[in-house]
Amino acid sequence: MPTTVTLIPGDGIGPAITEATVRVLEATGADLTWERQQAGVVALETLNSPLPPETLDSIRRHQVALKGPLTTPVGVGFRSINVALRKEFDLYANVRPARTIVRGGRYEEVDIVLIRENTEGLYSGVEHYVGIGSDPRAAAESVMLVTRFGVERIVRYAFEYAVNNGRRKVTLAHKANILKYTQGLFLDVGREIAAEYEGRVQFEDRIIDAAAMGLVLDPTRFDVIVTENMFGDILSDLIAGLVGGLGLAPGSNIGKDVAIFEAVHGSAPDIAGRGIANPAALMLAAVMMLQHMGMHSEAGRMASALQATILEQDSLTPDIGGSGTTDSFADAVIRRL
Ligand code: NAI
Repeated sequence: MPTTVTLIPGDGIGPAITEATVRVLEATGADLTWERQQAGVVALETLNSPLPPETLDSIRRHQVALKGPLTTPVGVGFRSINVALRKEFDLYANVRPARTIVRGGRYEEVDIVLIRENTEGLYSGVEHYVGIGSDPRAAAESVMLVTRFGVERIVRYAFEYAVNNGRRKVTLAHKANILKYTQGLFLDVGREIAAEYEGRVQFEDRIIDAAAMGLVLDPTRFDVIVTENMFGDILSDLIAGLVGGLGLAPGSNIGKDVAIFEAVHGSAPDIAGRGIANPAALMLAAVMMLQHMGMHSEAGRMASALQATILEQDSLTPDIGGSGTTDSFADAVIRRL
Protein backbone atom coordinates (compact mmCIF):
# COMPACT_ATOMS: atom_id res chain seq x y z
CA MET A 1 0.00 0.00 0.00
CA PRO A 2 1.46 3.39 -0.94
CA THR A 3 1.69 5.97 1.83
CA THR A 4 -0.73 8.87 1.37
CA VAL A 5 0.59 12.40 1.88
CA THR A 6 -1.60 15.51 2.03
CA LEU A 7 -0.41 17.92 -0.67
CA ILE A 8 -1.25 21.61 -0.27
CA PRO A 9 -0.14 23.55 -3.38
CA GLY A 10 -0.77 26.92 -1.69
CA ASP A 11 -0.61 30.43 -3.14
CA GLY A 12 1.57 32.40 -5.55
CA ILE A 13 4.48 30.27 -6.75
CA GLY A 14 3.19 27.37 -4.59
CA PRO A 15 1.36 25.33 -7.26
CA ALA A 16 4.34 25.50 -9.65
CA ILE A 17 6.96 24.44 -7.11
CA THR A 18 4.79 21.71 -5.56
CA GLU A 19 4.07 20.15 -8.97
CA ALA A 20 7.79 20.24 -9.82
CA THR A 21 8.57 18.62 -6.46
CA VAL A 22 5.93 15.90 -6.92
CA ARG A 23 7.44 15.04 -10.32
CA VAL A 24 10.87 14.61 -8.73
CA LEU A 25 9.47 12.59 -5.81
CA GLU A 26 7.73 10.28 -8.29
CA ALA A 27 11.00 9.85 -10.16
CA THR A 28 12.68 8.59 -6.96
CA GLY A 29 10.25 5.65 -6.99
CA ALA A 30 9.02 6.48 -3.46
CA ASP A 31 5.78 4.61 -2.88
CA LEU A 32 3.60 7.68 -2.28
CA THR A 33 0.17 8.80 -3.27
CA TRP A 34 -1.17 12.35 -2.94
CA GLU A 35 -4.34 13.80 -1.50
CA ARG A 36 -4.52 17.35 -2.85
CA GLN A 37 -6.12 19.90 -0.51
CA GLN A 38 -6.48 23.66 -0.53
CA ALA A 39 -5.44 26.31 2.00
CA GLY A 40 -4.62 30.01 1.91
CA VAL A 41 -6.00 32.74 -0.34
CA VAL A 42 -6.79 30.16 -3.05
CA ALA A 43 -8.99 28.23 -0.58
CA LEU A 44 -10.65 31.42 0.62
CA GLU A 45 -11.62 32.27 -2.96
CA THR A 46 -12.81 28.80 -3.96
CA LEU A 47 -14.04 27.22 -0.72
CA ASN A 48 -14.80 30.33 1.34
CA SER A 49 -12.33 29.43 4.08
CA PRO A 50 -8.54 29.92 4.23
CA LEU A 51 -8.21 26.64 6.13
CA PRO A 52 -11.12 24.34 5.16
CA PRO A 53 -12.09 21.44 7.46
CA GLU A 54 -11.40 18.93 4.62
CA THR A 55 -7.76 20.05 4.61
CA LEU A 56 -7.46 19.65 8.39
CA ASP A 57 -9.15 16.21 8.26
CA SER A 58 -6.78 15.09 5.52
CA ILE A 59 -3.69 16.13 7.49
CA ARG A 60 -5.06 14.52 10.65
CA ARG A 61 -5.68 11.24 8.77
CA HIS A 62 -2.40 11.00 6.91
CA GLN A 63 -0.16 12.70 9.50
CA VAL A 64 2.29 13.94 6.88
CA ALA A 65 1.80 16.95 4.61
CA LEU A 66 3.88 18.68 1.96
CA LYS A 67 2.87 22.30 1.73
CA GLY A 68 3.48 25.17 -0.65
CA PRO A 69 3.68 28.72 0.77
CA LEU A 70 0.49 30.45 1.89
CA THR A 71 -0.08 34.18 1.52
CA THR A 72 -0.96 36.12 4.66
CA PRO A 73 -2.32 39.60 3.98
CA VAL A 74 -0.34 42.12 6.10
CA GLY A 75 -2.20 43.84 8.96
CA VAL A 76 -5.70 43.01 7.73
CA GLY A 77 -7.79 39.95 6.85
CA PHE A 78 -7.33 36.49 8.29
CA ARG A 79 -4.61 35.45 10.70
CA SER A 80 -1.65 33.50 9.38
CA ILE A 81 -2.73 30.04 8.21
CA ASN A 82 0.76 28.77 8.92
CA VAL A 83 0.36 29.79 12.55
CA ALA A 84 -3.13 28.23 12.62
CA LEU A 85 -1.76 24.92 11.29
CA ARG A 86 1.02 24.90 13.88
CA LYS A 87 -1.56 25.49 16.63
CA GLU A 88 -4.12 22.99 15.33
CA PHE A 89 -1.61 20.12 15.24
CA ASP A 90 0.65 21.38 18.03
CA LEU A 91 3.64 21.41 15.67
CA TYR A 92 6.01 22.57 18.35
CA ALA A 93 9.35 22.06 16.62
CA ASN A 94 10.32 23.99 13.52
CA VAL A 95 13.45 22.37 12.11
CA ARG A 96 15.42 24.38 9.56
CA PRO A 97 18.75 23.07 8.31
CA ALA A 98 21.21 25.36 6.49
CA ARG A 99 24.02 23.55 4.72
CA THR A 100 26.48 24.78 2.10
CA ILE A 101 25.69 23.29 -1.29
CA VAL A 102 27.14 25.93 -3.60
CA ARG A 103 30.78 26.59 -2.75
CA GLY A 104 32.63 29.82 -3.41
CA GLY A 105 30.27 31.95 -1.32
CA ARG A 106 31.28 33.91 1.73
CA TYR A 107 31.59 30.72 3.80
CA GLU A 108 32.34 27.08 3.03
CA GLU A 109 31.23 24.19 5.22
CA VAL A 110 28.21 25.80 6.87
CA ASP A 111 26.16 23.02 8.44
CA ILE A 112 23.69 24.36 10.99
CA VAL A 113 20.31 23.05 12.12
CA LEU A 114 18.08 25.65 13.71
CA ILE A 115 15.34 24.31 15.98
CA ARG A 116 12.76 26.95 16.70
CA GLU A 117 10.00 26.71 19.30
CA ASN A 118 6.93 27.05 17.14
CA THR A 119 3.90 27.55 19.41
CA GLU A 120 4.74 30.03 22.17
CA GLY A 121 6.79 33.18 22.70
CA LEU A 122 5.73 36.46 21.12
CA TYR A 123 3.88 34.56 18.39
CA SER A 124 1.42 32.92 20.79
CA GLY A 125 -1.22 35.28 19.39
CA VAL A 126 -2.08 37.00 22.70
CA GLU A 127 -2.19 40.65 21.70
CA HIS A 128 -4.50 43.61 21.97
CA TYR A 129 -4.81 47.36 21.62
CA VAL A 130 -4.99 49.62 24.66
CA GLY A 131 -7.36 52.56 24.32
CA ILE A 132 -6.45 55.86 25.90
CA GLY A 133 -8.95 58.73 25.87
CA SER A 134 -10.59 58.90 22.47
CA ASP A 135 -7.89 56.82 20.74
CA PRO A 136 -8.83 53.11 20.79
CA ARG A 137 -5.41 52.23 19.39
CA ALA A 138 -3.20 54.45 21.52
CA ALA A 139 -1.00 51.50 22.44
CA ALA A 140 -0.67 47.81 21.68
CA GLU A 141 0.57 44.82 23.67
CA SER A 142 1.78 41.38 22.61
CA VAL A 143 2.40 38.78 25.29
CA MET A 144 5.56 36.65 25.21
CA LEU A 145 4.30 33.37 26.61
CA VAL A 146 6.91 30.89 27.82
CA THR A 147 5.95 27.70 29.67
CA ARG A 148 8.16 25.15 31.40
CA PHE A 149 6.35 22.44 29.39
CA GLY A 150 7.05 24.24 26.10
CA VAL A 151 10.73 24.83 26.85
CA GLU A 152 11.31 21.30 28.11
CA ARG A 153 9.95 19.68 24.99
CA ILE A 154 11.71 21.95 22.48
CA VAL A 155 15.10 21.75 24.19
CA ARG A 156 14.71 17.99 24.62
CA TYR A 157 13.80 17.77 20.91
CA ALA A 158 17.01 19.66 20.05
CA PHE A 159 19.17 17.33 22.15
CA GLU A 160 17.45 14.19 20.83
CA TYR A 161 17.96 15.54 17.30
CA ALA A 162 21.65 16.06 18.10
CA VAL A 163 22.04 12.54 19.50
CA ASN A 164 20.16 10.87 16.62
CA ASN A 165 21.98 12.83 13.92
CA GLY A 166 25.53 12.65 15.27
CA ARG A 167 25.69 16.36 16.14
CA ARG A 168 28.25 17.58 18.66
CA LYS A 169 26.83 20.76 20.18
CA VAL A 170 23.58 22.53 21.04
CA THR A 171 23.59 26.33 21.40
CA LEU A 172 20.62 27.88 23.21
CA ALA A 173 20.04 31.47 22.02
CA HIS A 174 18.09 33.74 24.41
CA LYS A 175 17.69 37.25 25.80
CA ALA A 176 17.62 36.41 29.51
CA ASN A 177 19.75 39.45 30.39
CA ILE A 178 16.83 41.78 29.55
CA LEU A 179 13.68 39.62 29.56
CA LYS A 180 14.47 38.12 32.93
CA TYR A 181 11.21 36.23 33.42
CA THR A 182 10.25 34.84 30.00
CA GLN A 183 13.74 34.37 28.61
CA GLY A 184 15.09 33.62 32.08
CA LEU A 185 12.70 30.66 32.28
CA PHE A 186 13.73 29.55 28.79
CA LEU A 187 17.39 29.58 29.79
CA ASP A 188 16.93 27.97 33.22
CA VAL A 189 14.77 25.11 31.94
CA GLY A 190 17.09 24.72 28.95
CA ARG A 191 20.05 24.28 31.28
CA GLU A 192 18.17 21.64 33.30
CA ILE A 193 17.49 19.60 30.17
CA ALA A 194 21.05 20.12 28.89
CA ALA A 195 22.39 18.60 32.12
CA GLU A 196 20.68 15.31 31.20
CA TYR A 197 22.84 15.10 28.07
CA GLU A 198 26.14 16.05 29.67
CA GLY A 199 29.00 13.99 28.28
CA ARG A 200 27.01 13.15 25.14
CA VAL A 201 26.31 16.56 23.56
CA GLN A 202 28.09 19.84 24.35
CA PHE A 203 25.95 22.75 25.47
CA GLU A 204 26.41 26.50 25.41
CA ASP A 205 24.10 29.47 25.70
CA ARG A 206 24.41 32.73 23.77
CA ILE A 207 22.56 36.01 24.02
CA ILE A 208 20.56 36.33 20.82
CA ASP A 209 22.28 39.47 19.52
CA ALA A 210 25.72 37.97 20.11
CA ALA A 211 24.54 34.77 18.44
CA ALA A 212 23.48 36.77 15.37
CA MET A 213 26.89 38.42 15.17
CA GLY A 214 28.67 35.10 15.74
CA LEU A 215 26.69 33.52 12.92
CA VAL A 216 27.76 36.23 10.50
CA LEU A 217 31.41 36.24 11.62
CA ASP A 218 31.95 32.47 11.75
CA PRO A 219 28.94 30.21 11.17
CA THR A 220 31.08 27.07 11.34
CA ARG A 221 31.23 27.48 15.14
CA PHE A 222 27.54 26.57 15.33
CA ASP A 223 25.96 23.16 15.06
CA VAL A 224 22.40 22.80 16.45
CA ILE A 225 20.74 26.02 17.66
CA VAL A 226 17.60 26.00 19.80
CA THR A 227 15.67 29.18 20.45
CA GLU A 228 12.22 30.69 21.02
CA ASN A 229 9.72 31.44 18.30
CA MET A 230 10.48 34.97 17.06
CA PHE A 231 14.25 34.74 17.54
CA GLY A 232 14.13 31.49 15.56
CA ASP A 233 12.08 33.11 12.82
CA ILE A 234 14.72 35.80 12.38
CA LEU A 235 17.79 33.58 12.75
CA SER A 236 16.46 31.02 10.30
CA ASP A 237 16.39 33.58 7.49
CA LEU A 238 19.85 34.72 8.54
CA ILE A 239 21.28 31.20 8.25
CA ALA A 240 19.43 30.70 4.95
CA GLY A 241 21.30 33.76 3.70
CA LEU A 242 24.62 32.17 4.67
CA VAL A 243 24.09 29.26 2.28
CA GLY A 244 22.60 30.84 -0.81
CA GLY A 245 19.32 32.42 0.25
CA LEU A 246 15.70 31.47 0.62
CA GLY A 247 15.63 29.49 -2.62
CA LEU A 248 17.66 26.75 -0.92
CA ALA A 249 16.15 26.75 2.59
CA PRO A 250 13.83 23.88 3.62
CA GLY A 251 11.88 23.54 6.85
CA SER A 252 9.67 21.14 8.75
CA ASN A 253 7.08 21.59 11.46
CA ILE A 254 6.99 18.59 13.75
CA GLY A 255 4.44 17.61 16.38
CA LYS A 256 3.78 14.44 18.34
CA ASP A 257 1.50 13.00 15.62
CA VAL A 258 1.70 15.25 12.55
CA ALA A 259 4.60 16.65 10.49
CA ILE A 260 4.30 19.32 7.79
CA PHE A 261 7.16 19.96 5.36
CA GLU A 262 7.62 23.23 3.48
CA ALA A 263 10.09 25.74 2.08
CA VAL A 264 11.11 28.58 4.38
CA HIS A 265 10.27 31.21 1.75
CA GLY A 266 6.83 32.65 1.08
CA SER A 267 4.51 32.77 -1.93
CA ALA A 268 6.72 35.27 -3.82
CA PRO A 269 3.84 37.19 -5.45
CA ASP A 270 6.37 39.31 -7.37
CA ILE A 271 7.38 36.34 -9.55
CA ALA A 272 4.22 34.16 -9.41
CA GLY A 273 3.10 32.85 -12.79
CA ARG A 274 6.40 33.57 -14.53
CA GLY A 275 7.76 30.03 -14.38
CA ILE A 276 11.03 31.08 -12.73
CA ALA A 277 10.40 30.18 -9.07
CA ASN A 278 13.15 28.07 -7.57
CA PRO A 279 11.67 24.73 -6.45
CA ALA A 280 14.89 23.58 -4.71
CA ALA A 281 13.86 24.61 -1.18
CA LEU A 282 10.62 22.65 -1.38
CA MET A 283 12.52 19.72 -2.91
CA LEU A 284 14.96 19.80 0.02
CA ALA A 285 11.93 19.84 2.36
CA ALA A 286 10.63 16.79 0.48
CA VAL A 287 13.95 15.05 1.21
CA MET A 288 13.36 15.77 4.93
CA MET A 289 9.86 14.32 4.52
CA LEU A 290 11.20 11.09 2.99
CA GLN A 291 13.67 10.76 5.88
CA HIS A 292 10.86 11.36 8.37
CA MET A 293 8.87 8.54 6.75
CA GLY A 294 11.85 6.19 6.90
CA MET A 295 12.36 6.20 3.09
CA HIS A 296 16.09 6.72 3.51
CA SER A 297 17.31 5.34 0.19
CA GLU A 298 14.86 7.52 -1.81
CA ALA A 299 15.82 10.51 0.36
CA GLY A 300 19.53 9.89 -0.25
CA ARG A 301 19.08 9.58 -4.01
CA MET A 302 16.95 12.69 -4.22
CA ALA A 303 19.41 14.70 -2.09
CA SER A 304 22.34 13.58 -4.28
CA ALA A 305 20.52 14.40 -7.51
CA LEU A 306 19.55 17.82 -6.21
CA GLN A 307 23.06 18.56 -4.99
CA ALA A 308 24.63 17.50 -8.29
CA THR A 309 22.17 19.59 -10.31
CA ILE A 310 22.96 22.66 -8.22
CA LEU A 311 26.73 22.09 -8.14
CA GLU A 312 26.86 21.53 -11.91
CA GLN A 313 24.73 24.67 -12.32
CA ASP A 314 22.35 22.81 -14.57
CA SER A 315 19.14 24.75 -15.28
CA LEU A 316 19.38 26.86 -12.11
CA THR A 317 16.67 29.48 -11.66
CA PRO A 318 17.57 33.20 -11.83
CA ASP A 319 17.53 33.75 -8.02
CA ILE A 320 20.63 31.57 -7.75
CA GLY A 321 22.33 32.88 -10.84
CA GLY A 322 20.96 30.69 -13.64
CA SER A 323 18.65 31.15 -16.57
CA GLY A 324 16.56 27.99 -16.08
CA THR A 325 12.91 27.64 -15.11
CA THR A 326 11.01 25.80 -12.38
CA ASP A 327 10.28 22.96 -14.81
CA SER A 328 13.71 22.77 -16.48
CA PHE A 329 15.34 22.53 -13.03
CA ALA A 330 12.97 19.69 -12.09
CA ASP A 331 13.80 17.94 -15.40
CA ALA A 332 17.53 18.29 -14.66
CA VAL A 333 17.08 16.65 -11.23
CA ILE A 334 14.96 13.88 -12.74
CA ARG A 335 17.64 13.15 -15.39
CA ARG A 336 20.13 12.52 -12.57
CA LEU A 337 17.69 10.24 -10.73
P1 NAI B 1 8.83 35.68 0.02
O1 NAI B 1 9.70 34.64 0.64
O2 NAI B 1 7.60 35.20 -0.65
O3 NAI B 1 9.67 36.54 -1.04
C1 NAI B 1 10.85 37.29 -0.69
C2 NAI B 1 11.71 37.48 -1.92
O4 NAI B 1 12.34 36.25 -2.26
C3 NAI B 1 10.91 37.90 -3.16
O5 NAI B 1 11.67 38.77 -3.94
C4 NAI B 1 10.69 36.58 -3.90
O6 NAI B 1 10.55 36.73 -5.31
C5 NAI B 1 11.97 35.81 -3.55
N1 NAI B 1 11.69 34.38 -3.50
C6 NAI B 1 11.06 33.70 -2.51
N2 NAI B 1 10.98 32.40 -2.80
C7 NAI B 1 11.56 32.24 -4.00
C8 NAI B 1 11.77 31.11 -4.84
N3 NAI B 1 11.37 29.88 -4.50
N4 NAI B 1 12.39 31.32 -6.03
C9 NAI B 1 12.81 32.54 -6.39
N5 NAI B 1 12.65 33.64 -5.64
C10 NAI B 1 12.02 33.50 -4.45
O7 NAI B 1 8.46 36.71 1.19
P2 NAI B 1 7.39 37.88 1.21
O8 NAI B 1 7.36 38.56 -0.12
O9 NAI B 1 7.70 38.62 2.43
O10 NAI B 1 6.01 37.14 1.46
C11 NAI B 1 5.04 36.88 0.46
C12 NAI B 1 3.88 36.15 1.12
O11 NAI B 1 4.29 34.85 1.56
C13 NAI B 1 3.30 36.85 2.35
O12 NAI B 1 1.90 36.79 2.28
C14 NAI B 1 3.81 36.04 3.50
O13 NAI B 1 2.96 36.09 4.62
C15 NAI B 1 3.86 34.66 2.90
N6 NAI B 1 4.80 33.74 3.56
C16 NAI B 1 4.40 32.45 3.70
C17 NAI B 1 5.26 31.52 4.27
C18 NAI B 1 4.79 30.11 4.37
O14 NAI B 1 3.76 29.76 3.85
N7 NAI B 1 5.54 29.25 5.03
C19 NAI B 1 6.59 31.89 4.74
C20 NAI B 1 6.94 33.27 4.49
C21 NAI B 1 6.05 34.16 3.93
